[in-house]
Amino acid sequence: MQKFVIQGGRRLTGEIRVQGAKNSALPILAAALLCKGESCLENCPRLSDVFAACRILTGLGCRCRIDGETVTVRADPTETAIPEALMQEMRSSIIFLGAALGRMGACTLGYPGGCELGPRPIDLHLAGLRRMGARITEENGCLHCTAPGGLHGARIHLQFPSVGATENLLLAAVTAKGETILTNAAREPEIADLAAYLNRCGACIEGAGCSTVRVQGVGELTGCTYRIMPDRIAAATWLAAAAVTGGELCLRDADAQSLESFLDVLDQMHCRCIRMDDRICIAAARPLRAVRYLKTMPYPGFPTDAQAIVTAPLCIADGTSVVEESIFENRFRHTDALVKMGADIRIAGRAAVIRGVPGLHGAQVCATDLRGGAAMLIAALGAQGETVLTGLQHIDRGYDSPEHVLRSVGAGIRRE
Ligand code: UD1
Repeated sequence: MQKFVIQGGRRLTGEIRVQGAKNSALPILAAALLCKGESCLENCPRLSDVFAACRILTGLGCRCRIDGETVTVRADPTETAIPEALMQEMRSSIIFLGAALGRMGACTLGYPGGCELGPRPIDLHLAGLRRMGARITEENGCLHCTAPGGLHGARIHLQFPSVGATENLLLAAVTAKGETILTNAAREPEIADLAAYLNRCGACIEGAGCSTVRVQGVGELTGCTYRIMPDRIAAATWLAAAAVTGGELCLRDADAQSLESFLDVLDQMHCRCIRMDDRICIAAARPLRAVRYLKTMPYPGFPTDAQAIVTAPLCIADGTSVVEESIFENRFRHTDALVKMGADIRIAGRAAVIRGVPGLHGAQVCATDLRGGAAMLIAALGAQGETVLTGLQHIDRGYDSPEHVLRSVGAGIRRE
């Protein structure tokens, strides 16, 4: 079992290059399945979730080559089934469904089921695909999906702007017959990135990143070379690490615009954040100031993926902060570990009430999920003494060598 041993209390200073976005790389890898020829995806982060997506492609008969941060996919699928083990390994594997239906007209895959964050329903994905002509049956937790006469365009209104459902329906729509109009679509920047890749491959998508997206189906797509956008949640993680250690960091390859809701909270904490074209610099405040109320919302609201991350600096901020989680049911599992490190946090329904304490101390803690683990890592960097953090398989799903990144800006951290 691997663990991080972290010597806390060291101020982080220097420059970090932000990795490519996991939540963009995964749907783009699924999208590569739709394309004839070769796709060359640059700035693809080296993450266990990305490797799992490549294993899904390989399992479908495609060829995938990983060379540093470049993943090359030659999609000549020969299979239509995604093995159960791969479905469980990465919950977002469901986004392969829309692409598989578009390319092969059929797909059998396991139900992604619940996960660390609570139930993960896919009703919106399935209802939308059915409107486009897919036939979907469920047997023993396995979904059998076909599109006998091919998919056709449709008008689809999403009751909630689900990121995964928007991506799945976009993937299904690009080669469907006729026009698809998605309303109340998710507006996350990763959706615009997916659409930019698809359009470069020959798709005809308008409005991605807005709540109404129009897609004109095209006959076929051809792979291209594409650079994955920077990871806004990884950027938020390093900013929070600077805040908790009283540090000064400059992030390279960071997109300030897509992080505005997070940067605004850091401003409220009295940190000084400088937004530049492809850089964000932060000079942390001492003491940090509590944030009276904060609620996670679909983009452009405060991202649920940054909720746990922001909790760590709020633990040592002056005053009381209230953080409400409105997207997922079970996303406060990291707070027990923070309390073990000396934080004062109470959970009341969907809100966490955080009373700032003067400082945290090291402890033995275990990551419960990806961003919860990141919150523990950030807290440990700001704590006095040593923290031993286990459960690294969660953190490795979303961060490419975080110990190297953090050591390069002065953190005391090693993987054992
Ligand atoms: C994606 C992100 C994840 C992020 C989340 C919300 C990827 C790979 N993952 O996940 O990191 O936390 O967006 O920003 O990009 N829902 C339904 N029915 C559905 C689909 C979703 O009820 O058919 C509900 C979910 O239970 C959840 C909410 O909608 O409460 C948001 O889910 P969704 O936006 O779909 O998240 P994901 O795409 O799974």
